[in-house]
Amino acid sequence: MKRTHTCGELRKANVDQTVTLAGWVQNRRDHGSLMFIDLRDRYGLTQIVFDLDNPDVLELGQHVRSEWVLQITGKVIARPDDMVNPKMVTGEIEVTVQSFKIFSRSAPIPFETDAYAKVGEETRMKYRYLDLRRPQMQRNLQVRHAVCHAIREVMDGEGFMEIETPILGRSTPEGARDYLVPSRVHQGKYYALPQSPQIFKQILMVGGCDRYYQIARCFRDEDLRADRQPEFTQFDVEMSFADPDDIFAVIERCMVAAFKDGIGVTVNPPFERMPYSVSMDKYGCDKPDLRFGLELHDLCKLVKEVEFKVFTAVLESGGIVKGMAVPGGAEFSRKDMDNLTELVKIYGAKGLAWIKVQNGEYSGAPVKFFKPEQLNAVRDELGAKDGDMMMFVADKKKIVNASLAALRNEMGSRLNLYKDGEFRFVWITDFPLFEWNEEENRWDAAHHPFTSINEEDMEIFMTAEKTAGSRIGEVRSSSYDLVLNGVELASGSVRIHDAEVQKRVFELLNISPEQAKDRFGFFIDALSYGTPPHAGIAPGIDRLVAMMLGFENIREVIAFPKTAKAIDLMTEAPGDVDSKQLRDLGIQNVTPKR
Ligand code: AMO
Ligand code: AMP
Repeated sequence: MKRTHTCGELRKANVDQTVTLAGWVQNRRDHGSLMFIDLRDRYGLTQIVFDLDNPDVLELGQHVRSEWVLQITGKVIARPDDMVNPKMVTGEIEVTVQSFKIFSRSAPIPFETDAYAKVGEETRMKYRYLDLRRPQMQRNLQVRHAVCHAIREVMDGEGFMEIETPILGRSTPEGARDYLVPSRVHQGKYYALPQSPQIFKQILMVGGCDRYYQIARCFRDEDLRADRQPEFTQFDVEMSFADPDDIFAVIERCMVAAFKDGIGVTVNPPFERMPYSVSMDKYGCDKPDLRFGLELHDLCKLVKEVEFKVFTAVLESGGIVKGMAVPGGAEFSRKDMDNLTELVKIYGAKGLAWIKVQNGEYSGAPVKFFKPEQLNAVRDELGAKDGDMMMFVADKKKIVNASLAALRNEMGSRLNLYKDGEFRFVWITDFPLFEWNEEENRWDAAHHPFTSINEEDMEIFMTAEKTAGSRIGEVRSSSYDLVLNGVELASGSVRIHDAEVQKRVFELLNISPEQAKDRFGFFIDALSYGTPPHAGIAPGIDRLVAMMLGFENIREVIAFPKTAKAIDLMTEAPGDVDSKQLRDLGIQNVTPKR
């Protein structure tokens, strides 16, 4: 037997037992003729004592180094009272070595496993196998495993089948760039890696599979950020004869189980629901962080008569003015306000106007343009109290919302308006079906082109023009996002199950019948052979687990992630290939290698 116990297991009750442990040497400490090492495995650390006067263990004691892999057989002894380490779960005991085996020695390591915080990201990624030995990384992977396991248990209990869909396929329209794989057999033709299993899961519904899920890998060649990797994992779901309530209920049950099994936290369904339009009005964005209030207010009517050029010019040109009251903000210095002005400028705002409410008086540049009753009316609308700061942005609606949403989030974190470990879910519903693409001068699908139309807006959908500014922008879809603490965790929708409606969507998206036939002909065909009404959703597993553990960057919860430049520093992918491989594929590089 290689080991009788793990390194996190021994307690006072084991004293006097002879045990065998196996693991890595975390560190060694010499105290004259006594030497200590901490032996580590993924379950914990155990203190091992060597008596260097014992010739049987002297050699190991003298030579052992960090990260060697050992087997230790010895006796569990109680530590003297003053040596008990309450910070270690095994801190009441130690194991005195009787015999040992060296499984392997380690080259000198580039960083100590307990000093990772000081090493750069690049070193961690290059030596990911060493990084993974850290207790924090072990916990991250353990929680991720527990979350997936909990989800599978719930889904299994509700009659969902886990079905695999192809990785080599045709382009799926989720809006990102595809990763392409050249075909050797059919030179000049390419597979696309799935951006999601969207089309296949809908076809599974046409195929009568009724309730599908998959913990599925997705691939998107897009600009990477902390919450985006080129390959990531979705908990992908589709249900026949289901409406949004059914989807919400299943996902809520999964979240309850995932939070409980993952991190021992209780979350309480049903989650709040909020239409997209309300979220945009109150929070300026479609992923509001509801751990704090700080609502935005439309002030167009109240400031119409105020002779402040910044406001009047914008209102005359069809823009809007919105504001919010920041509690305690009267304490902000001019420098603070300059910094916040820079923040809103990132989102296109031309400035940030502000008025302090302090000791019953108003101060700030715009005050002189207001009549007292106008100031009071704005204060009442914003709910500002003495000691608060009222902040305003005037611009096109999109810019006002984006900049104030960012300002609101900044205020929430700077003023500690929420506690770590608090989880606030909200379903955002009724997104617009289309959004106007300024650059390309066309309507794009806001979610994806298979999202169904809110029945109430069907007439506009069938009749409106596809020109800029047309009423097509008012058409609501039957779609929803699950948002947690201001992060989009999941997106989904009720799908179109009528081939005619699907054709109309393609037409509005400027996808010609020929293009539609070429790209999705098989799919439109499938829809025409008897399609059940169906709906689905896909929460991102990486984001879910990262949020549970309080990480902003999802690579902390992915065993082998890529850098922001989409490189795997450990394997050095993407890499070169043989010219023969390229010849076989009929491919020639047209740009010189960098
Ligand atoms: P969507 O494209 O919104 O919807 O993706 C759903 C969820 O997947 C996660 N996600 C990502 N996570 C990490 N890195 C990325 N690059 C990345 N991109 C997306 C997010 C997101 O909310 N087929 C539809 C779902 C459906 O309609 O059923 C889809 O893929 O958590
Ligand atoms: P100005 O009259 O340009 O000096 O601006 C007076 C104040 O209004 C400054 O605090 C600016 O940051 C702010 N400001 C300028 N443009 C805008 C705008 N579009 N929305 C809100 N505040 C603005």
